[in-house]
Amino acid sequence: MEIELAGWKLFKGKPKTKAPRAEAAPSAVVKPLIREAHRRGAEVGGLPRFNTTASDQMSGRGGDRFSAVRAKLRHAFTPSQPVADRRLFAGRDAVLKTIIRSIEDQRLHVVLYGERGIGKTSLLHVLTQAATEARYIVVYTSCGANSRFDETFRAAAEQIPLLFHSGFSPTAAESEKGSTLADLLPGDALTPRKFGDMCARLTGTRVLIILDEFDRATDSEFRRDVAEVIKNLSDRLGRVQLVLAGVAADLSELVEHIPSIRRNIFALRVPKMTEAEVLQIVANGEREADLKFDTQASAFVVEVARGSPYIANLICHHAGHAALDAGRATVLPADVADAVDRTILEFQGRIATPSQQHVKRLFEQGRQDMLAMAARSALAGDGVFDARDIEQINETSARKASEAIALLTTEQLIRPAPGLIDAAPRYGFVEEGLPTLIWMMWAQRTLNRDIPAPRAAATAS
Ligand SMILES: Nc1ncnc2c1ncn2[C@@H]1O[C@H](COP(=O)(O)OP(=O)(O)OP(=O)(O)O)[C@@H](O)[C@H]1O
Ligand SMILES: [Mg+2]
Repeated sequence: MEIELAGWKLFKGKPKTKAPRAEAAPSAVVKPLIREAHRRGAEVGGLPRFNTTASDQMSGRGGDRFSAVRAKLRHAFTPSQPVADRRLFAGRDAVLKTIIRSIEDQRLHVVLYGERGIGKTSLLHVLTQAATEARYIVVYTSCGANSRFDETFRAAAEQIPLLFHSGFSPTAAESEKGSTLADLLPGDALTPRKFGDMCARLTGTRVLIILDEFDRATDSEFRRDVAEVIKNLSDRLGRVQLVLAGVAADLSELVEHIPSIRRNIFALRVPKMTEAEVLQIVANGEREADLKFDTQASAFVVEVARGSPYIANLICHHAGHAALDAGRATVLPADVADAVDRTILEFQGRIATPSQQHVKRLFEQGRQDMLAMAARSALAGDGVFDARDIEQINETSARKASEAIALLTTEQLIRPAPGLIDAAPRYGFVEEGLPTLIWMMWAQRTLNRDIPAPRAAATAS
């Protein structure tokens, strides 16, 4: 008897005639698929699951022998979060020391600026811990487009106990019932002057008010009021100091009205990490996750990260998972190459299609060196570069550097950056993530070949 099922002819019982060869083949193909379908249907845990519960416990199901390492890896490398844990905070000793000295010895207000992902917030977290240890009251605020002076500084006042106000003794009823400076503030709008006056009366403590993401506060009135309060606090020798941080290529971009407060602030551009600092990120993560990066793999991370703690964390995170997926607790160069592939995919999602197409075409045409030279120059500094930078950073000729600028301008991948009228023209990529994407694509092509271990890698082991 012949049964037709979804286009396949199957025979039930003994066929009267021998089944044609062509009909035997499909069942050979279909049988394992059907078996697999049954297995999957019966399998309760067929779909991907979370490995850990919301309370950070291992779920106990579906894990492999590396489940515990996987869970630890999540904390060891945190590309999407600032570092808050001192054990995972790498390097930055000199930067931190300079900030602390200017706060403590010079009583200056601090402005930290630098590119996205360079580690400003992580630095602020560690600074907060150090200041808290020294009994400072630290108020951390993340600014937004809607930040207003009144709201922001009222919230700060709420965290300063009234007992530190010279007008109230610590045993006064108000101090004892946990009142704060906010209780002294008027009902009408809080001005920089009123806030400064109040802070001038603080005694027995010191306060750091941290305004992170200051670049996001676009309201010029807010920015002017902050400059005003810095001036006011400085003139009155107040015990309150401000720390501002934000994305900016230069200081004046971050703080308008800067001339009035220049003498009162210490401004610091958060630098790229050194090779040794990036290797420290790798080493901290290794310790935290019980994972080993082989020397060449570490060297690759340094090469790809180009001093960016964000890229270092991202690559290490992906490379760690790639190694575990391959059943190893040692990360090899191939895993870093795999991590670069994953990172490229992530970056591609963030960049407009036309730019990506231009980049892809140049790579296909074998002109990736031009792209890589410009990307390297952008990544080496603050995103802006000129022909001389390309020449020096890539140790190439002036002719090649000008060619790269001409090509990338024609391809609409870079454009002139605003600058001084008489100065040589400087350029920047048209999109923020482009230099990193290009650099990753370049690394993808070169990583599998032998990249010599950087100096720091050789000395670190
Ligand atoms: N000292 C450090 N040690 C280890 N990892 C770091 C360090 N500094 C930064 N990172 C990592 O780099 C990434 C970016 O850090 P962070 O968020 O502090 O930068 P940012 O400058 O504040 O970025 P944004 O401009 O987006 O606010 C994070 O993944 C963080 O974990
Ligand atoms: Mg930040």
